[in-house]
Amino acid sequence: MSEQETRITILISGNGSNLQAIIDHRPLLPHNARIVRVISNKKSAFGLTRAANANIPTTYHNLISGKYIAKGEKDEAVVQKARSTYDADLAKIVLDDKPDIVVCAGWMHILAPSFLDPLVAANVPVINLHPAKPGAYDGANAIERAFADFERGALPDNKTGIMVHYVISEVDRGEPIFVREVECRAGDTLAELQERMHNEEHDLIVKGTGEAISRLWKERAEAAAGTSNSS
Ligand code: GRF
Repeated sequence: MSEQETRITILISGNGSNLQAIIDHRPLLPHNARIVRVISNKKSAFGLTRAANANIPTTYHNLISGKYIAKGEKDEAVVQKARSTYDADLAKIVLDDKPDIVVCAGWMHILAPSFLDPLVAANVPVINLHPAKPGAYDGANAIERAFADFERGALPDNKTGIMVHYVISEVDRGEPIFVREVECRAGDTLAELQERMHNEEHDLIVKGTGEAISRLWKERAEAAAGTSNSS
């Protein structure tokens, strides 16, 4: 009997080099991993082309497309309501594919409870790649901010880092799965640091995804064993 597959949905916003790393190393992932869909919130994201080249279905889902909110909307209450509806619809798009896990690989949109709650209810873990160590440089432009600190001698041990972590509603604060330090070297340019960080990311996103899949199936096996023991 062939092993049950692990269905992965990947969320992206840009170049998709981390998506490419997962596509390229998918045969090495545990539990018969398959990427069932790539979703981008940016129409021009090159990651959509990478997915199409690998025959992976794609969906473009954008907040400021007229469906949810007009460009330049300033009313905070209107923005919040639109974000919440957008995220609820994102959850529906994702869950329609019955994924086992969601991987944010360069997804530049903060996921609201209206996305995360239905995923939790469906027992689908969401993991994210972030180019900083836990608690350092949460949010956007983490590499640039670490490099600026390095240049003014304010980066502890001259090290920044990357992590793959579970996603919770507090941005970049979910439980880390893997953390890796990345050294800033004297004479580094920002571009050199970015390249070193991205090379490490391409390795860690694959390992982090594999680890999250392994944990998922272990938990399922334990839950099944618990159920059969108690019956
Ligand atoms: C990565 O540096 C990731 O950590 C950050 O956005 C970048 C995405 O790169 N959140 P890519 O689109 O995977 O090439």
